[in-house]
Amino acid sequence: MHGVEKIFQPDIFKNKVVFCTGGAGTICRGQVEALVALGANATIVGRNKEKTEKAAAEMSKIRHDAKVIGLSVDVRNYESLAAAVKTTVEQLGGIDILICGAAGNFLATIEQLSPNAFKTVMDIDVLGSFNTFKAASDELIKSKGQVIFVSATLHYRGVPYQGHVSAAKAAIDSLSQVIAIEYGPKGVRSNIIAPGPIAGTEGMDRLSPNQDATAKSVPVGRMGTISDIALSTVYLCSDAASFVNGAVVVVDGGSWHVTSTFVNYPEDVINPKVFKVAGTKKSKSSS
Ligand code: HXC
Repeated sequence: MHGVEKIFQPDIFKNKVVFCTGGAGTICRGQVEALVALGANATIVGRNKEKTEKAAAEMSKIRHDAKVIGLSVDVRNYESLAAAVKTTVEQLGGIDILICGAAGNFLATIEQLSPNAFKTVMDIDVLGSFNTFKAASDELIKSKGQVIFVSATLHYRGVPYQGHVSAAKAAIDSLSQVIAIEYGPKGVRSNIIAPGPIAGTEGMDRLSPNQDATAKSVPVGRMGTISDIALSTVYLCSDAASFVNGAVVVVDGGSWHVTSTFVNYPEDVINPKVFKVAGTKKSKSSS
């Protein structure tokens, strides 16, 4: 699964429990699958009950003795997260690895963003990450565990149509750094994984339809894969990274150093209607 068995011992996460928000989505699902393949049990939470339960059932087949629970939770609601943590502790025994991956995204210029559109993404990404850590932090202290926040590289430079997401990811990076220093003395590590352009993800398919051109712009000459992120996650969660705390692990083939955008700049910004905004309800009316 994701090639982890070629690099890591098969049982390094035996008796460990993962709790992952957005775990039915492509990137986070790969992260959890890799940890489960190496011995962990897991809870994945997501807004879509059917999708989350189906993903959990499929992930339970990764090992003959794997336990993966799927729960319907909106990370904007602290109480439902706390209830999911309680269920996890009751059924799986605790939490060792927390992955905060739930995120919202669509393409919109600042001009196109309503205050509620901006708030929606900030609430899912930033408040959601805070809520998740708050709900699980006592368990992480007990287990001397760790948290991984899934961020991005967007906010290292300006990326048009992503003001709301960039602001949210910058806030998540800061949150992780503070957790690293406040919870490090309690035995909890906090790190960021910042994926670059990853093929086969819902977000990338929607945000960047021309992935051949994107791949050519990446210094290593290819799009990233879900397995690239999964393998980095295994490294961070393993004892190999026991001195890694407050770090940002960029997994992007060197991409952000040379390109920051998947739109033509400045043409598409001067005239936003040139760019076809894909995705949700507003996009249809604005394209
Ligand atoms: C402008 C938009 C919009 C769009 C929604 N809104 N889509 N505005 N352009 N394309 C506005 C709505 O009009 C509304 O504002 C407000 O946002 C809330 O919209 P809702 O649909 O009511 O919100 P909700 O149901 O909570 O949906 C959240 C969502 C949704 C983020 C808007 O699209 C979503 O959950 N998407 C799937 C998650 C996702 O994309 N995951 C992949 C993340 S990838 P008004 O003012 O009308 O009330 C990722 C990687 C980043 O994060 C790096 C990429 C390179």
